[in-house]
Parts: sequence; C-alpha cells; structure tokens
Amino acid sequence: QTAVTDSAAPRTKTLPDAQTVTEVRHYTDRLFYFRTTRPRSLRFRSGEFVMIGLPGENGKPIMRAYSIASPSWDDGLDFYSIKVQDGPLTSRLQHIKEGDEIILRPKPVGTLVLDALLPGKRLWFLATGTGIAPFASLMRDPETYEQYDEVIMMHTCREVAELDFGRQLIESLPEDPLIGEFVGDKLKYYPTTTREESKWMGRVTDNLTSGKVFRDLGLGAEQMDPATDRAMVCGSLDFNKDVMAIMEGWGLREGANSEPAEYVVEKAFVG
Ligand code: A2P
Repeated sequence: QTAVTDSAAPRTKTLPDAQTVTEVRHYTDRLFYFRTTRPRSLRFRSGEFVMIGLPGENGKPIMRAYSIASPSWDDGLDFYSIKVQDGPLTSRLQHIKEGDEIILRPKPVGTLVLDALLPGKRLWFLATGTGIAPFASLMRDPETYEQYDEVIMMHTCREVAELDFGRQLIESLPEDPLIGEFVGDKLKYYPTTTREESKWMGRVTDNLTSGKVFRDLGLGAEQMDPATDRAMVCGSLDFNKDVMAIMEGWGLREGANSEPAEYVVEKAFVG
C-alpha cells in the first residue's frame, strides 16, 4: 500500500485523522492549492493553522504546519502550499489528486487571530508568498468586516503569476453570495511584485516606509497610527522582522491572545 491512496481505489479511510482531497489547482511550478474534507469535530478561528501531512516511508507520518486558508463557516478546508522539490513533505504533497487522502490533526493553533488585537479602525494584512494563506481565511470572515472600517491586503511576490491565487480570491469576494455584503468596499488590495513588471512594484517594507502605499490608496496619512491601525504579518523570518521594526518605530506593539495589542506576527510555513 502506497502512502497516498490511488485515486481509482475505493474511497475508504485508511489513515488515522484522514481527510479526502476534493480539489487541486496548480498556480506555478512552485505554488499549488488544494481543498480537503473537514472533520466534523474541527472548530477553528480564522487565521489559525493545523498540522497536515502524509505517511512516511517507515510508517511515521511527515507532518508540517499549514495555515487554514478557508473561513471557519466553510464546510471544506483550503490550503495553499509551496512545492519544494527535495522537501520531505511537499515533494510528495504536490502530486496529490482529487480522491487522495492526507493526514490532518484537528488541533488548530496560531497567533493571527482577531482576538489578539485591540479594537481599531483599519486592519492591515501584510504577506509575502504563501504567507497570504491565513489572510485568505480572514478576508472571508464576516467578523473582520464587523470589527474594522477598512481592511488592506498587501501581498508581495517576485512574479505576477505568484499573485494569482490571492488575486482571484479577492476579485471574487464582492460577488460572493455569503461574504460579499460584509466585504462591500471595505477591502483594499495592494499586490506588488519585485522581480517582474506590474502595476505596483516593490517590497511591502519599502512601500510602507516611503509612504507610497498610503498615497496610492489615498489613505490620507503617511504611516500607521497606533490608536487606530492594527496589523497582521505573515511571511519569511526576515520579512517579519523588518515589518515589525517599522511598526514598532510607529509605536505599535506586538499582541498575543493573552495580551492583545496593535499587531501580531506568524512565520509563513514551508515544506
Ligand atoms: P525581493 O525580490 O526583493 O527579494 P521569497 O520568494 O524570497 O520568499 O520572497 C518573496 C517576496 O518577499 C519577494 O518579493 C521578496 O522581494 C520579498 N522579500 C523577501 N525578503 C524580504 C524582506 N526582508 N522584507 C521585505 N520583503 C522581502
């Protein structure tokens, strides 16, 4: 018996904590999306992550942290992943097909949750690469729009095609029968690339410090205000560190579930 069940095989659950893959979409040779069934027992807050994986050669599962990219009201679970050719998990996970099974431990955790922020007016989602995944969940949570007047999604990738997953999702929101009304015109999207020409260019960090994103979106300020601006950050370690330094300089402090403040951070997970 191979690790992932053959698509043609009967769909009986063979793994502990097994979930069935219901959809797979490949975006680039390095990025893909997949959707699975959701365990009935799984309750989570938008922005949290779970451990998912596949059985290893020796029967011991290879598990990694993945942000849930779907909202908590959805009956399936979305994931957005990098493909690492020699990665222990993603070298194999990238080949999953509809009908295959993955292992999913139904114990959600994470810091990118609305509860870890003090009340505010404007919420910033700052991401690079697959770091957009938790925001794909939060951008579809009615709570986000009930708690904030304005939501800004800044996402930076090297190339235009790497923005597609986020762009398609965001463009579909106003027309979405479930969440469209909540989103209204509150969500502003600011995608940028750094190594290919596109409408808006440059790193999140540079566009914040130069004030460019504030001017381009007509926000009427040149920096975040700790009294009203809140932020959630998800990218590489270096990205997180650099964004935190900028926000600390503006007087925002890192919050946690136990002690809400002005921003929260999580590392984007890789395979
Ligand atoms: P750049 O092309 O200038 O390196 P990666 O693919 O290396 O994870 O990077 C994803 C995106 O994040 C790229 O657009 C990259 O810009 C940007 N990036 C990488 N490191 C940082 C950082 N420390 N601060 C801001 N942006 C960063």
